Amino acid sequence: MTDTTATAELLSLFPTGILVASIPEVDNAALARAIRGLPPAETQAHGLISGDGVSTYGTGHNLHRRPEFKPLVDALGLRLAAFARELGADLERMNLLMADCWSNIQQPGSHVVQHRHPNSLISGAYYVEAPANCGRIVFESPLDAHRMSDFPYYARQTPFAMKRYAVDPIPGRVVLFPSWLSHRTEPNRSNGERIVVSFNVSAQISGADRERPRAG
Ligand SMILES: [Fe+2]
Repeated sequence: MTDTTATAELLSLFPTGILVASIPEVDNAALARAIRGLPPAETQAHGLISGDGVSTYGTGHNLHRRPEFKPLVDALGLRLAAFARELGADLERMNLLMADCWSNIQQPGSHVVQHRHPNSLISGAYYVEAPANCGRIVFESPLDAHRMSDFPYYARQTPFAMKRYAVDPIPGRVVLFPSWLSHRTEPNRSNGERIVVSFNVSAQISGADRERPRAG
């Protein structure tokens, strides 16, 4: 029998990078206290949270400028840089800038509806409190056209077969993803609160490169 794999190369192109990392150096109890202690005027219902939940999105988006969030922001900066380098980004010529940072507190039964983060490069979610079954974050495949014609059956799960991918929220875990990638959360089926710090990151072109005309 001819070995067709010996002379063939399967290219895996156009992948979507998602980084899942743990941040053990951050004090989640202190963060939870800081988030629960935010002024009521800065927390409000959020159109993307279905059910009972509050967010500081829409009231400045500026948790990253508060001193009590500095340890988290510093820790996130290291993971963001590592993620960008893995994707091939040239951090000698630009800085990653946390542009927005906000908190969500979701009560049992609530979920976050499908959305993207416009006007941003990388987005992320850091889990401060996440009881078991409080709802995974679910990313949808951006390959919409793929669904027009697909194998009716798959014998095994591969990145080629995936329509969506879910990540468990674990306290101390951060998930970084391209801001254009559509996502939602499953309902919080726990009896506790699901507390998340979310953020948007952009790239600021640095030094001489800022003056240089950009081709393309
Ligand atoms: Fe989001």
